[in-house]
Amino acid sequence: MPKHDQAMRRHFHEAAARRGFSVSPAQEPAVERLCRLAAELARPAWTFPAPPRDLYVWGPVGRGKSWLVDTFYEGLPAGRKRRLHFHDFFRRLHDGVGGPGARHDGQSAVDSALDELIGDSRVLVFDEFHAHDAGDAMLIARLFRTLLDRRITLVTTSNYPPAGLMPDPLYHHLFEPTITLIEQRMDVLDVTGPVDFRRLAAPPPTGDGRRFATGLCLPAGHTGLEALGLTVPAPAEATAVQAHLRELPARAVRGELVWFGFEALCEATTAVPDYLALAERFDTLVLDGVPPLTAASADGRQRFANLVDVACDRDVRLILIGSDPLTALPADQALTRDLDRTASRLALLQRVS
Ligand SMILES: Nc1ncnc2c1ncn2[C@@H]1O[C@H](COP(=O)(O)OP(=O)(O)OP(=O)(O)O)[C@@H](O)[C@H]1O
Ligand SMILES: [Mg+2]
Repeated sequence: MPKHDQAMRRHFHEAAARRGFSVSPAQEPAVERLCRLAAELARPAWTFPAPPRDLYVWGPVGRGKSWLVDTFYEGLPAGRKRRLHFHDFFRRLHDGVGGPGARHDGQSAVDSALDELIGDSRVLVFDEFHAHDAGDAMLIARLFRTLLDRRITLVTTSNYPPAGLMPDPLYHHLFEPTITLIEQRMDVLDVTGPVDFRRLAAPPPTGDGRRFATGLCLPAGHTGLEALGLTVPAPAEATAVQAHLRELPARAVRGELVWFGFEALCEATTAVPDYLALAERFDTLVLDGVPPLTAASADGRQRFANLVDVACDRDVRLILIGSDPLTALPADQALTRDLDRTASRLALLQRVS
């Protein structure tokens, strides 16, 4: 058993070194706990009276939580493990429940969609755990029940401590039973380090190592677009792009790059499954006509925040042309959920003036 523990510890330190940083003091307890979990998971399930305890890793944005759980996931042996991102989870459940192959009785439709998602895994890594409405509350409660029944260990990250989940007072009470379950069942680890790593003045020498961090933010009418390989689309390049259950009007598609106007992608009625579909097909997304976020509609802002979340998780390069979203954040943070998360992600884009 200690050998799995040590192998995972080595894996963490090597993964950090490859990115040009070292595990921070605030991350250490989580690394230790994840190493212990790796050793526990290496034992045959029947040797355990109960499955290894679940882990809830939370803290403010950019503290390296996703890096911790993704590195842990990567270091586990292949098979019997699943990783899900919040948006992915809801899209797949909604597809399973409402999709063409779905059964019509609501409860069993959710259950069979969950079955499909979880498969025969022993551990489920769920990145970005949050809940904002009654629908989320129901689906997450069901996920928990299924994991408990199936003896599957859950490892999750969140920007909220368990008691702070579902912040809307209108719905909070709906989530209280799940919060109690989280507090009873999960080991809660706080990784509130002093800095948002995405905002470090000097990025690590090897960079973030991900495509998302090579994204750009440029003012409208920038004269150096061509030098950056970004020729403004000719009207004839306009084309419809198949997204989730609809086509979206793109300004251009060039190989792995898709170019949209902000209006078409964020002010029209698009949704997260559309962004996921685009992220599956393209590795670069150019968005022009980005207005000051204060001038966008509330829905437009929320869609933009969701788009940034998806692009970051799926490692899509974002090129924003127009107003820098970070310089015009709505003063009332409550207007757009989790805007600090969007801002932290956008801080990774290079500013070209
Ligand atoms: N110890 C560290 N030192 C420097 N950079 C780090 C460290 N740990 C992680 N990072 C880097 O910091 C960035 C943010 O990490 P990560 O995405 O894991 O944050 P997070 O806590 O999940 O943020 P959020 O709550 O916004 O999802 C990533 O580029 C990651 O590679
Ligand atoms: Mg994260």
